[in-house]
Amino acid sequence: MDKRENIMEQSMGGLHDLFRDYRELAEMEHLYNAAIRQLTSKFEILNDEFRVKYERSPIHHIGSRLKSSASIVKKLMKRGKEVSVDSAKENINDIAGVRVVCHYLDDVYDVADMLLRQSDVKLIRKQDYIETPNYNGYRSLHLDVEIPVYLSDKTELVQAEVQLRTIGMDFWASLEHDLRYKSDKEIPGGIIEQMLACAAEIEDIDKRMQEIYKQIQEL
Ligand code: GTP
Ligand code: MG
Repeated sequence: MDKRENIMEQSMGGLHDLFRDYRELAEMEHLYNAAIRQLTSKFEILNDEFRVKYERSPIHHIGSRLKSSASIVKKLMKRGKEVSVDSAKENINDIAGVRVVCHYLDDVYDVADMLLRQSDVKLIRKQDYIETPNYNGYRSLHLDVEIPVYLSDKTELVQAEVQLRTIGMDFWASLEHDLRYKSDKEIPGGIIEQMLACAAEIEDIDKRMQEIYKQIQEL
């Protein structure tokens, strides 16, 4: 075992039993990291173009994360799927995750359309939780996409989950995530009602801010 493998084994703890081939796992992580970088770069280029052409940015900020091997194993086991690199590639659509936080509601759909017009981006699935929010009021536009990643000897088609949302939606989702993970207790129904009410107020503010933006544009 070389030094790199040794370090990996230590850092992965018990996971080495599940993912037997370190090199394969490292290659998978490289592949999905590359997809994240490519997607991030696409959004940065679109945002820069807007700044040059229209002196404004539709995107407030871009976040991303590579799903940890521990989360991958957990998700595969929960779904009763084989724990292997091939199985992860086949069954998990959000190993690569990119979050695009936009200023206004229209920006969310405009940026999504601009991405999907690119000839190397294939849309696998669209989940519009802005039009149809989750049971608790979660709102965002999710795009499961596939993009090519050019490697030294082959081209791999890699899936990623892109979440587009406004600053308002991000505010709500970040706090909801924090509240949910802080408490290990069962969330009572009344809390969900309160979260729904907060989401509705934020939706209203998003719409009003969009209107104010339009009024200023028309001056
Ligand atoms: P996948 O195949 O895993 O994508 O299952 P799915 O399509 O049912 O999941 P979905 O796309 O609805 O949600 C995936 C991600 O969206 C989560 O990992 C979160 O980042 C985000 N998300 C979905 N629902 C909520 C929610 O209620 N609150 C917050 N804070 N985030 C959410
Ligand atoms: Mg999804």
